[in-house]
Amino acid sequence: DLKQGKFRITGDFTLNISSGPDERLYKAADRFLRRLDGRTGLFFKQGIISQANPQPADDPKLFIITKKKGKIELNEDESYRVLISPEKITLESENDIGALRGMETIIQLLSADDQGYYFPAVEINDKPRFPWRGLMLDVARHYLPMDVLKRNLDAMAAVKMNVLHFHLSDDQGWRVESNAYPKLHQLASDGLYYTQSEIKELVNYAADRGIRVMPEFDLPGHATAILVAYPEFGSMPESYTLVRNAGIFDATLDPTKGKTYQFLDKLFTEMLSLFPDEYIHIGGDENKGKHWKANPQIQAFMKKNNIKNAFELQTYFNNNLLKTINKLNKKMMGWEEILQPGLSKNTIIHSWLGRESLYRAASQGYQTVLSHGYYIDLLYPASDHYTNDPLPDSSERLEKEKKYKLTPEQEKLILGGEATMWSELVTPFTVDSRIWPRTAAIAERLWSPSSVKDVDDMYRRLEIVSVRLEELGLCHIKNRDVILRNLANGGDISALKILVEVIEPYKEYTRDPRGYLYKTYSPYTLMADAASADASSARIFRNRVFSYLQNPNENDFAALNSALFKWRDNHDGFLVTMKVSPVLKNMEGLSKKLSVISSIGLEALDFIGKKSAASQIWYDKNSEVIKSIKDDTEAKKNSNKIFEDERTEIMIVDAVQDLVDAANPEAAKKRREKEKIEKELVEKNREENKNEADGGH
Ligand code: ACM
Repeated sequence: DLKQGKFRITGDFTLNISSGPDERLYKAADRFLRRLDGRTGLFFKQGIISQANPQPADDPKLFIITKKKGKIELNEDESYRVLISPEKITLESENDIGALRGMETIIQLLSADDQGYYFPAVEINDKPRFPWRGLMLDVARHYLPMDVLKRNLDAMAAVKMNVLHFHLSDDQGWRVESNAYPKLHQLASDGLYYTQSEIKELVNYAADRGIRVMPEFDLPGHATAILVAYPEFGSMPESYTLVRNAGIFDATLDPTKGKTYQFLDKLFTEMLSLFPDEYIHIGGDENKGKHWKANPQIQAFMKKNNIKNAFELQTYFNNNLLKTINKLNKKMMGWEEILQPGLSKNTIIHSWLGRESLYRAASQGYQTVLSHGYYIDLLYPASDHYTNDPLPDSSERLEKEKKYKLTPEQEKLILGGEATMWSELVTPFTVDSRIWPRTAAIAERLWSPSSVKDVDDMYRRLEIVSVRLEELGLCHIKNRDVILRNLANGGDISALKILVEVIEPYKEYTRDPRGYLYKTYSPYTLMADAASADASSARIFRNRVFSYLQNPNENDFAALNSALFKWRDNHDGFLVTMKVSPVLKNMEGLSKKLSVISSIGLEALDFIGKKSAASQIWYDKNSEVIKSIKDDTEAKKNSNKIFEDERTEIMIVDAVQDLVDAANPEAAKKRREKEKIEKELVEKNREENKNEADGGH
């Protein structure tokens, strides 16, 4: 609620914490002051504040009023109220976690005009829509050092996220020091693990920011690392080795042996003593039961105990594990595959294969968290994640969601969502750019009302948030230039910068088809790593083409023209850089393609500007060139050998085709009709083949 007036910030700005409930709030207030003076360049008279040295101000400008210390647990109150008038600011909350959230809002409101910095007068009453707003970090595929984790916790706090889901074990590594079973970190981590004191430090760092840390130890599948250390708990008498590529592997704990549960009991007792959170994520995903089928002893056990299939055996495993978890006063969470008859209702179901499981779980009385649609490692644009609402208005739900007809009580079981940063293709150096800024769009989806969903406005604000995250030490913007400088081998990076802003890495997992191309130790220092999931120059160009074709105008024409000239001529500069940097040879074809596409766009724009239709011959020739470029990209995506283009693609190709179409609308109409018929034929063939395949069952 915007009001009249501005609160001006000067060096006299001071804050006052009334009845400070905890050191945590003082530390947060101190960080707030340091960010504010860092941005404004003002020399605040109020120095470092702490509970021991609160430095109460004579004439405070910001009053922080909270009643008590909040608990770092699910469903804690995070509400706050901010009132800004030209004279003073008050921030009130039930507990200090609400105050932390409120301080982030206040700092977001910082504005400037020709007289200096100010906060606009407002009244805000705010609280989250969902209590579970998480980010999962997979530190198994690529270990992330403490400083990377900490800066990402800072970023999470800035966008009011409250759960770090810490994926600590998988086929590629075990990442926590264990005294009970030291071979885990000694043999299954390549020396890259968190000491117990580091884990405690991290948990405290997160708690200082109002963030829970929930560990995940993925069981009974995804267990290669555990079995590298302790093969005696495996379902096959193999010698296991750490996995170095991506994929789904067969190593599985043996659920039929008492000693497996004794191991897990002792291990969890140790591990969960490090994590105060109420929840433990046990994974449970992607266990195909291959080793269970292959082991006669396990098969005999199943027969004897009337366990009919791998799902039932996994439920048997989960319920045994639950005894340990209950004994430790914890609750269990697992990926959606664990939702099987007989699963304890205390368990949280983590939906990832599809949204349906979210609704199925809630309809059966389970609490549930959505990650399907928040897989940031798939490299989809922010808009896709932003429009993925866990609980849209019932009229906007998919048919398969509507079929569950959730009661209001069941809807409350949908706790929120989590962005998942699987790390097969990221390193400590690139991970920030895969998480941010897109995760901020997810954070907003989970905090704000469902009615806040204007995509253009989201992108406008996301640019601002993105830059602000740099203030907290995030490297998602600056590391791009570091990669480009490395790629240019000391040469000029200006051509690479232009190129990287119109390309994106292949989406989904096509950058690394079937997980064979990249190993954990491959170089993640290529154009694909510098490129973002949501190339802003390309997006702006696409939007402008759309708006220009709706309503031709000189502004858009000039902007499109200048972008296309820049891209057309960029290839010459690229070739100069390539001379000193052989690694760039892989990108030569793509850079050339950008030039070709842009030339076509320029010619099309010229026809449209002059209001003269292009000839049929011109239209056919250029449409054919664009089609061949697209076909080439598709062919490369589907190949696991070709390394040209560094598995990136140009994101303005369709928009240029739109310009070409507008240069001869008659020809475009005919071509589209032809394409439609071809597409229907392909679909029809696919349907027929599919029916055949179905018939085979
Ligand atoms: C998962 O992505 N395997 C949970």
